[in-house]
Amino acid sequence: MSAPLPSSPRDVLGRPLRDLRLSVIEACNFRCPYCMPAEQVPDDYGLDAARRLSFDQIETLVRGFAALGVRKLRLTGGEPLLRKRLPALIARLAAIPGIEDLALTTNGSLLAAQARALREAGLRRLTVSLDTLDPAQFRALSGGRGELAPVLAGLDAARAAGFAPIKLNCVVQRGVNEEAIEAIADYARRHGDVARYIEYMDVGTCNGWRRERVVPSAEVRDRIAARWPLLPLDPNYRGEVATRYGYRDGAGEVGFVSSVSAPFCGDCHRARVSADGRLYTCLFAADGHDLRPALAAGAEALAAHVAALWARRADRYSEIRSQAGASRRHVEMFLIGG
Ligand code: GTP
Ligand code: 5AD
Ligand code: SF4
Ligand code: SF4
Repeated sequence: MSAPLPSSPRDVLGRPLRDLRLSVIEACNFRCPYCMPAEQVPDDYGLDAARRLSFDQIETLVRGFAALGVRKLRLTGGEPLLRKRLPALIARLAAIPGIEDLALTTNGSLLAAQARALREAGLRRLTVSLDTLDPAQFRALSGGRGELAPVLAGLDAARAAGFAPIKLNCVVQRGVNEEAIEAIADYARRHGDVARYIEYMDVGTCNGWRRERVVPSAEVRDRIAARWPLLPLDPNYRGEVATRYGYRDGAGEVGFVSSVSAPFCGDCHRARVSADGRLYTCLFAADGHDLRPALAAGAEALAAHVAALWARRADRYSEIRSQAGASRRHVEMFLIGG
């Protein structure tokens, strides 16, 4: 008989493993300069399907993580809607006991055609990246690859398919898209979506991050509150990434992800797995752990292996970012989807 599984491992800092963010594809049809700059990432990047975990492997993997206490699963990319037959995968993952929350983050460009199938497959929550509502700026911020109109059509289709509220991720950069702050809040309020403003982060190695480009969440919040008064809300759950505020006029809520100005590593219970089956214990980890050998032995072996890796985890990059010893070598954001 095999040894009983450690049901919920704790890392070196006492943090449990609750969330899994799983990339289903490395490829993306956008080239956002803060994530996957066109001059550094070839056009055909990530299109080699042979490197990806199969649906069978992904299902086994998620079963293994669920056995360790993971309750929340978010599918990411690259751009996850580029993965063929994604609804079929979602249906399999939605049926796994223990997975209580199934979400997906997308750039929205392919959403119009897929929203209904995703919903019918069992996807419950949707986050769409939206950094601007200006068509020309949208083109520039997607590296010349994306158009705003299909994304807005995708959002309409997703609402019609029953996704509510949809979260809109807006990365704010100083001198780039600050005017989008009010425009996106206004759009979200009118459509029943939740805008979430993300501080520009030094993810990966190729986005040329500069601290001067970061707009602290407090400033974004004050700009929004000046137009639509806000009141602070309690977190939905311990370790929630975004700090929430409600509009005093009742038009929903807004969130701020402040990884640079107010790190939240203390409660970080997120694991990330890339499309080729590597485990990253932090968004800023330098290297991943190849899970394929353990995966080949089944969900139980995978769970035991992940539990051992999690027990050694001590990551808290956002808290030590400014310290001399903090490594500048980070996994690329497009490999683990944020
Ligand atoms: P909910 O389940 O809706 O609360 O999702 P979430 O807060 O995990 O949302 P989402 O996946 O949209 O995360 C928003 C953004 O916050 C991500 O795209 C990242 O940019 C950032 N983020 C999420 N998790 C972490 C984290 O653990 N560390 C850091 N530094 N940033 C994170
Ligand atoms: N800083 C902050 N957020 C980023 N994202 C991608 N790159 C960065 C960065 N450098 C966000 C995207 C998307 C999510 C997956 O991560 O805008 O909404
Ligand atoms: Fe693609 Fe999202 Fe990265 Fe933009 S942020 S390049 S849409 S993975
Ligand atoms: Fe978690 Fe790393 Fe983000 Fe800190 S920097 S919250 S440890 S993913």
